[in-house]
Amino acid sequence: MTAIQGFIKPSRRPGELGIHSLDHFHFVVPDLAAAQNFYGEFGLNVGERDGLLTINTFDHPHLWGTVGEGARKKYSYISFAAFDDDIEKFGERLQAMRIARVDPPRGVDSNGLWFHDHDGNLVEIKVAAKSSPDEKSRFSFKEVGPGRRGAPLRSAMPRTRPRRLAHVLLFTRDVRKAIEFYTRVLGMRLSDRSGDNIAFLHGIHGSDHHMIAFARSEAPGIHHLSWDVGSIDEIGAGAMHMLGKGYDKGWGLGRHVLGSNFFHYVRDPWGSYSEYSADIDYIPAACDWAGGDHEPEDSFYAWGPNVPEDFVRNFEA
Ligand SMILES: [Fe+2]
Repeated sequence: MTAIQGFIKPSRRPGELGIHSLDHFHFVVPDLAAAQNFYGEFGLNVGERDGLLTINTFDHPHLWGTVGEGARKKYSYISFAAFDDDIEKFGERLQAMRIARVDPPRGVDSNGLWFHDHDGNLVEIKVAAKSSPDEKSRFSFKEVGPGRRGAPLRSAMPRTRPRRLAHVLLFTRDVRKAIEFYTRVLGMRLSDRSGDNIAFLHGIHGSDHHMIAFARSEAPGIHHLSWDVGSIDEIGAGAMHMLGKGYDKGWGLGRHVLGSNFFHYVRDPWGSYSEYSADIDYIPAACDWAGGDHEPEDSFYAWGPNVPEDFVRNFEA
């Protein structure tokens, strides 16, 4: 690694064109105060700017997303980040693939490349610092020796504060087309899939097992936002805190197979979810991940409670 005056060069796969990070998401909801409450209680650092909610994590400078006001909850766009010397090549790629460039949404100040994906969703590729991790996220399990108590008093359990956005799972009308679009245009790679029901994609310059994933539905939408935490205790404490605040619907604790992460999903006021996620698999820039196509019943989760009946319902449809 090269360190110049404290700057650590981000990991990069040489000679290949691909986005390096999911920079931020944007969606709208009918009630910003409800969103402020939900994401604040979830442990995120929620602020306000120009009529939008800004969603940060504590102790991290990156802006992971913005939430605006709209008639009903609706996914608006995702912005991906690329290296400075790749942006021109992305412009050439769009042109070669006859993908029309469009203007940024009204009120968004951007010099990135904007276009529509296979489902008509707005996507941006812009130049920004790599916010996806350069190494596997830290995960801890504290074990104490005999003669000592391992658990803190319940009153001493710290609040859960996610460290960063881990990934976003979107609904799509066509998983196959989503894989094709996001691999060929954005240069991502398929990590694993389960037929035409769900697919997980990673960034080529070092990223978690999935930066973005797609689940089949009759319309686009956001299924969940996933937030990285460092332990099972943090997942449990977060879930308990949300339960105490009235957010009593969700799914967890469990462990996924594809991505391997421990999870607990908390249902938001609009029927989608925010996920506490820990210990997700990591795919370094130099790694060619040996993914596969897996049977749904053998790959959705390794263990956990029964899946709520409407867990994969798209309330944006
Ligand atoms: Fe997830």
